Amino acid sequence: MTTLNRRTLLKLGALTLGASAVSACANTQHGLPPGVGVASERFTPDIELSLKALPGTAQILPGATTNTWSYQAQLQRGEASALTIHPNRFLGPHLRVKRGQKVRVRFSNGLPAGQVTNVHWHGLLVPDSMDGHPRHVIDPGQTFVYEFEVKNRPGLYWFHPHPHVLTGQQVYRGLAGLLQVEDDAATAATLPTGEFDLPIVIQDRLFDAANQLLYPAQTETGQQGGMNHGGMGGMNMQSMMAGMMGALGDTVLVNGQKDASLEVGPRPYRLRFFNASNARIYKLAWSNGEPFNVIGTDGGLLDRPVTRPYLMLAPAQRIEIWVDFKRWASGQPVTLESGAFETGEAAGMMASSAPELGAPMRVMTVRVSGNASSPLTLPASFPALDAPRIEQATNAAAPRRFTLTLNGMQWLINGRSFEMDKVAADEVVTRGATEVWEFVNALNPGHMMEANGMPHPIHIHGTQFTVLGRSTLPELQKLQDGTRDGLVDTGLHDTVLVMPGESVKLLMQFNEAGRFLFHCHNLEHESQGMMRNVDVRA
Ligand code: C2O
Ligand code: CU
Ligand code: CU
Repeated sequence: MTTLNRRTLLKLGALTLGASAVSACANTQHGLPPGVGVASERFTPDIELSLKALPGTAQILPGATTNTWSYQAQLQRGEASALTIHPNRFLGPHLRVKRGQKVRVRFSNGLPAGQVTNVHWHGLLVPDSMDGHPRHVIDPGQTFVYEFEVKNRPGLYWFHPHPHVLTGQQVYRGLAGLLQVEDDAATAATLPTGEFDLPIVIQDRLFDAANQLLYPAQTETGQQGGMNHGGMGGMNMQSMMAGMMGALGDTVLVNGQKDASLEVGPRPYRLRFFNASNARIYKLAWSNGEPFNVIGTDGGLLDRPVTRPYLMLAPAQRIEIWVDFKRWASGQPVTLESGAFETGEAAGMMASSAPELGAPMRVMTVRVSGNASSPLTLPASFPALDAPRIEQATNAAAPRRFTLTLNGMQWLINGRSFEMDKVAADEVVTRGATEVWEFVNALNPGHMMEANGMPHPIHIHGTQFTVLGRSTLPELQKLQDGTRDGLVDTGLHDTVLVMPGESVKLLMQFNEAGRFLFHCHNLEHESQGMMRNVDVRA
């Protein structure tokens, strides 16, 4: 007897529904309001650049190049150090800005017909019209001018498209770049900088025999599976299946490269781990058993370093470490691995070309060589976080609660799917108020495939929050024995991993009025509708 599971269903869906796939949302409603997306004469940028999303190629695997979509950038104003183009171009440009600087980005959409897009500055605190909300997308051939002042603490942020339904596919094909807010001089003097301060961007992908990217939610006809404006009724089976699981790959890329190997000197480095995968969560560990000295999270440096035996890094999250390779100078290569962990999903899944979520994978190799010395030692503390305090919260006794559930094959937030122009009563907050939000990853009793739910990396726009605490349903506590010690809940975050059966309480403040988003950053969950608006009212 064959067990019907998600993977066989996915294949079935691809076979039977491929030919009738619904093409991407023909969004006829994105005439932008006056003044939105055009350069303002009153805005004097310190940094100005053009950014274009367009088809390209990258040498990712040996042999044939891979067709991608990528960001091409050109600096028009500002220091040359503000823009670094990644050599193989799979990963978008690396922008470096300073707090207080004004940035203007002339963005143009050079993608194929039907691919509306925009740019979201993930983690940055910008006005709502500059935040890349899916209501502010442009058609191929159109331009949108982003203007914002950098208000965030120094740290590693990033940018990516945020159209409704298409985000997963666009990021998968290569549309993602880094936006780093530089440290002030005093802090920088205590940390490795320049070539000793490296982003480690981790992505997983599936390739076909011709080295071309395979996006699991795409049909054989090359059309994007998606949602009609009619919602559930118009959604095709294949898109629902891939949406439920997330797009997982079998090939891990680091900084756009397969089988990455990092050559380092015997001295301290600052490594900025960033999970830019669509759906895969990593459990990072060094093969030599060395623990991690964590110095930063999404929102920049912690107030003091913490140690973890391994690190859980969910999609969109950044974790920065301090590592002194002098201790490793043995000549033996060390690998960075992603270890096995439980995800709460039904057991006995049929093998597919991509390892399941939670399966072990190799991420990269580190080789220490040469001579180097450095007077730097791990600082005992860093600048204060400047985060709101629980005493300021207006709702500490009754947190604003969002429950994550599965209905049929669609993940929901408080029973709702994304609606472009709607905000529910419990999604309206007051600007400047300090609030406790609680995300509850609920069980789905009787559900055939995901009775325990799935891990959801929850991301909130327009704020950097702190994590107040977690609790887990008694029956799922054991499941988390292999992940709990790898969570970094100190510091500031814009994305938090909520494991099955877990409730996580967050403390936050929104300081810009307008309409922002919160959603699951499993990009297939997001694209499928696990996203809602939050209105911040003055
Ligand atoms: Cu990185 Cu709303 O996303
Ligand atoms: Cu974001
Ligand atoms: Cu999710």
